[in-house]
Amino acid sequence: MSHTEKYLKEAFAGESQANRTYTAFASKADKEGYPHAARLFRAAAKAEEIHASNHLRALKAVKSTKENIQAALSGENHEWQEMYPGMIETAKAEGNKDAEMSFHYANEVEKVHSKLYQKLLDSLGSSEAYPYYVCPYCGNTIEKEAPAACQVCGAKGELFLKIE
Ligand SMILES: [Fe+2]
Ligand SMILES: [Fe+2]
Repeated sequence: MSHTEKYLKEAFAGESQANRTYTAFASKADKEGYPHAARLFRAAAKAEEIHASNHLRALKAVKSTKENIQAALSGENHEWQEMYPGMIETAKAEGNKDAEMSFHYANEVEKVHSKLYQKLLDSLGSSEAYPYYVCPYCGNTIEKEAPAACQVCGAKGELFLKIE
């Protein structure tokens, strides 16, 4: 990997993080009664999203849909097989309950994502289409119909976000 590619990856990560962070700052500003501050946070968040997308394009990381599904699948597998288990153990050992819960939610849902991407890869090009439902608390991702309650965090199924 060239230095420039390494910098593009770093910049992509940083801009993506700034997008999420500014979006959270905007919500907080709204709650604290600073609507104009929220507006600038949202404007900057949008700009950081554009920077992140530009860096990603320069990295040529978006390929054919089949290749993109394979990349997503290997990323999800890495997360639940190698990344999160150790993080969960460390958070537990250090007594950081919030981190442990956050890692646990992500770890469980990455397993679900792996299965969904594998299924998609195996059936790519078939005309079957249905919505997905996402838990607003843990990100659990369910096809076709929301469950009565989230299997990962227990949230009510009616709260799931429909993606179609
Ligand atoms: Fe995932
Ligand atoms: Fe959930």
